[in-house]
Amino acid sequence: MSNEETVTIKDNTTGKEVTMPLLTPTAGPKVIDIGKLYKELGYFTYDPGFMSTASCSSAITYLDGAEGVLQYRGYPIEQLAEHSSYLEVCYLLLNDHLPTRSELDEFENTITMHTMLHEAMIRFFSGFRRDAHPMAIMVGVVGALSAFYHDHMDIHNEEHRMITAYRLVAKMPTIAALSYRFANGKPFVYPRNQLNYTENFLYMMFSMPTDDYTPDPLLAKALDLIMILHADHEQNASTSTVRLAGSSDANPFAAVASGIAALWGPAHGGANEAVIRMLININESGKPLQHFVDRAKDKNDSFRLMGFGHRVYKNYDPRAKLIREVCHQLLNDMESSGEQQKLLDTAMALEKVALEDDYFVERNLYPNVDFYSGIIFLAMGIPMNMFTVIFAMARTIGWISQWNEMMADKEAKIGRPRQLYTGEIDRDYIPIDKR
Ligand code: CMC
Repeated sequence: MSNEETVTIKDNTTGKEVTMPLLTPTAGPKVIDIGKLYKELGYFTYDPGFMSTASCSSAITYLDGAEGVLQYRGYPIEQLAEHSSYLEVCYLLLNDHLPTRSELDEFENTITMHTMLHEAMIRFFSGFRRDAHPMAIMVGVVGALSAFYHDHMDIHNEEHRMITAYRLVAKMPTIAALSYRFANGKPFVYPRNQLNYTENFLYMMFSMPTDDYTPDPLLAKALDLIMILHADHEQNASTSTVRLAGSSDANPFAAVASGIAALWGPAHGGANEAVIRMLININESGKPLQHFVDRAKDKNDSFRLMGFGHRVYKNYDPRAKLIREVCHQLLNDMESSGEQQKLLDTAMALEKVALEDDYFVERNLYPNVDFYSGIIFLAMGIPMNMFTVIFAMARTIGWISQWNEMMADKEAKIGRPRQLYTGEIDRDYIPIDKR
């Protein structure tokens, strides 16, 4: 990053000028360093939703929304999707280089050796209501990891931070699967070391003690790809939440739990579940598709087409491009129930209508990654309320890599935004009997 260039802004009321460094990243738009603006001019900046604000510097993930580019540590997502595996991508995000064979073997072995949960944690699940959403269970249980794993928890020690990352990546599928098993009254299933990461998750989700179960390699491979595509995405809402929570030197498991909470919303990771709920509503309504497209375009109606649009991508989401292919391929290869097939047909019809409709074309509202992942999960037989849980499982490596980067960053400070105050001022207290 060079900072030889500057930007000067002038206060037209006082005539005072402030010159600020213009930082040049390795890729992407230049960034004005406004750190001294308040000191010099007495003003804050106002940017709801962070439309023009870089909240930190980071060397992990690069996004170009206009060109539809996504790279992890400089490697294009298309190449990683074709050649890599989820655990290799985890290593890359954490360590900034692709592992050698022996580094990857060691990493995979470490993750495999950390998949079990403390037995007392397993009893923790039964404290939840039977009908609890698995995301609610996950927020609670991941936060509770902070109560179970105190050792190796000097957050200023790089090795300890790595152990925290291994624990999270390894235990997340176990926690996710147990959340599902508990909510469905099924017996808890422990991980098996001879299975790979995604096979193990499918095994913990779907096997029964009464029968043999071999995870379908096609599904395990598709899930691995989906996990790669969801592994990190720069400073999105949940990652920014993890960074903000972690910036107070909070426990990292608790910080990641706050990220899971942020991910849950339908405008973010909850969109994959919301997509399928929307498709069910469309089918049950008996109304034509155009009725819903028109509602999505109506500014007086809060209805939006879930799974369409993105804050950063104003071109096709590169993840959606890759996942779309897998989605169509998987639907051809797999048998689905009549009900499922109806939902999938509606999804494909909606995709077509929206891609051709002027409103969506003009606003660059393409189907995003959540549109297709919801459909793939549905075809895989994964229950709807587990969709966002799988997103959380995949994004954990992004959250913890970004947290680790922040903890090692000498310039990082506690996150403390300011505000544009619009409330009353200097009121005198009125006794209750005089109001
Ligand atoms: N359906 C209908 N209109 C839409 C949609 C949609 N899904 N998304 C955006 N628009 C319109 C919006 O009304 C606005 O129109 P106008 O310019 O006429 O006022 C324009 O497109 C720009 O939208 P915006 O709300 O200013 O964009 P944003 O960057 O604030 O919001 C978004 C991005 C993802 C929250 C939004 O597109 C959305 O709500 N999409 C549906 C939910 C969804 O699929 N979320 C998953 C996002 S991808 C994965 C992830 O982040 O987890």
